[in-house]
Amino acid sequence: MLDFLILNQRLIKQKPVVRVFSSKIKDMNQTTSDEDQIILGDCIEVMNQMESDSVDMIFADPPYNLQLRQALWRPNLTQVEAVDDEWDKFDDFATYDQFSRDWLSACKRILKPNGTLWVIGSYHNIYRVGSVLQDLGYWILNDVVWVKSNPMPNFRGVRLTNAHETLLWAQKQKGASYTFNHHSLKMMNDDLQMRSDWYFPRCGGKERLKVNGSRAHSTQKPLALLYRVMQVCTNEGDLVLDPFFGSGTTGAAARLLRRRFIGIEREEAYVKIATERIAGVTPLGEDFLLAQTNPRREPRVPFGELIENSFLQPGTTLYFGEKSDVTAQVMADGSLMMNGNRGSIHQLGRKIKSGPVNGWTAWYYFDETRGKRYPIDRLRQKLREYLSRKGDLES
Ligand SMILES: C[S@@+](CC[C@H](N)C(=O)[O-])C[C@H]1O[C@@H](n2cnc3c(N)ncnc32)[C@H](O)[C@@H]1O
Repeated sequence: MLDFLILNQRLIKQKPVVRVFSSKIKDMNQTTSDEDQIILGDCIEVMNQMESDSVDMIFADPPYNLQLRQALWRPNLTQVEAVDDEWDKFDDFATYDQFSRDWLSACKRILKPNGTLWVIGSYHNIYRVGSVLQDLGYWILNDVVWVKSNPMPNFRGVRLTNAHETLLWAQKQKGASYTFNHHSLKMMNDDLQMRSDWYFPRCGGKERLKVNGSRAHSTQKPLALLYRVMQVCTNEGDLVLDPFFGSGTTGAAARLLRRRFIGIEREEAYVKIATERIAGVTPLGEDFLLAQTNPRREPRVPFGELIENSFLQPGTTLYFGEKSDVTAQVMADGSLMMNGNRGSIHQLGRKIKSGPVNGWTAWYYFDETRGKRYPIDRLRQKLREYLSRKGDLES
């Protein structure tokens, strides 16, 4: 094992970014450290040694139990690279169900009370996994359909093209609070609520990892899928665990989005592939990861505080709209003066428009350095950031 560790330090080149462990290490408390980890071993054994209530989110892509008994050929007589790996073979449904019960129970113990679990599968296994999941007391929040824009045809022409996989998203405890980045997801989706049908191509092209020209892993998932999953229900710094790590797609997305991760994988060859892959991922800059918050939950900042904190000077001209000629002057007490009328940003706005107005987005100031008008809401946001840096705001 030591050789393996050293080998991986070399693969990682300069700074080791992931520590690779054997599951035989005695002190599994190391798995709660801040370091990202890939653990070589059986996921049930490893998880059973981990601390309870320690993981924020689990993404699991378990064996499908495809039960492929014979080779698959295309009409042009080339062989299909199918999922016929040893790790996907189970004697019967009962053995597969027991396996599902064991790993899902282990996951449940190590998930934090407000943690959530994702499982992905196909029609071969997802119904069985879903049933075990519910029996164990998980509460399903959504099922998501990953529609493959480039599915593999049914070469024998005897069934429909199998063009999707299903993801189950469940919480450990029914009714517990959990992370759901509703506002960020809306932002990602052109201001529309994110739906439960997701369209991504199968992993291919440059993204597909290869060893000697062949696929490095038969079921490598697209990075975009894991990127989306992490955006849904995790925040920067959260600990994500993947018990069936394979080529390390979960680790790659976690590193990119600055989440911490633990990956468990039974096959040494895949551990090597994942380690190399993740070493090549550069995390996104922290400034680009700020999640969208719910505006209704943001701390209140009254207009007058912009003046008290010198974000606006008394006497400054504000414009009612980006292009309009209607103006008002900022007064020292936080009111606005317009042609002898005095009132708050909202009251004067209502007078001009004869209807409800949000003064924060209706009034604009002129930014000298940029030569452009901006809504005063921008100053409010800057003031919030300034005050929270000073520790004056409770969020
Ligand atoms: C469906 S693949 C996961 C692929 C992965 N999501 C990716 O994008 O590369 C399942 C993986 O689980 C591993 N595996 C199967 N049984 C396992 C077990 N009991 N403990 C740990 N890993 C296991 C297999 O070796 C295989 O790499």
